[in-house]
Amino acid sequence: MAGVRIVRRLAIVFLILFVVAQFIRPARTNPRSQPSANLMTKAPREVAQIFDRSCRDCHSNDTRWPLYTQVAPMSWLVTYDVREGRDHFNYSEWTAIDPDDQDKLLGGVCTLAKRGRMPLWQYLLIHRGARLSPADVTTLCTWSEKMRDTIQ
Ligand code: HEC
Repeated sequence: MAGVRIVRRLAIVFLILFVVAQFIRPARTNPRSQPSANLMTKAPREVAQIFDRSCRDCHSNDTRWPLYTQVAPMSWLVTYDVREGRDHFNYSEWTAIDPDDQDKLLGGVCTLAKRGRMPLWQYLLIHRGARLSPADVTTLCTWSEKMRDTIQ
């Protein structure tokens, strides 16, 4: 049966690729940062809880790295999102961001939450509990608008 042979060969090729892929291990880092530099230090509890549940893994230095993030190709996708997420908006290092950018980011928190663009859809596939409820969006928007007024 030629069909069975092809399937078996393909399975072996995939298995070999999978094993080889495990040797490409992007670093999963959680850089140290001062608690006082964290945007959530002074945020109300309900806001901090939303960030902790839905944003922390990509936008802070306190990423949780469950087992599946250690297995390629998931590890590549996850580390990419974390790097990009921190690059654009790292709330663990909030005080190092200049005020104009802080203002834009706070605006983005509300707009992106409202439009359902954050958390990223691929994250929600695995973390169903991270989805924002309409009440969460209101909480984020009310807080971020208030915060914007405090930025000089
Ligand atoms: C799975 C990772 C992931 C999660 C979870 C996530 N984000 Fe993001 N976020 C990203 C990435 C990657 C970018 C940069 C690329 C883009 O804009 O799509 C980004 C961009 C942003 C930006 C725009 C930054 C800029 O440059 O303007 C804001 C604001 C933001 N996210 C807020 C949030 C909030 C608020 C949450 C939680 C409700 C959240 N994100 C959850 C990955 C994530």
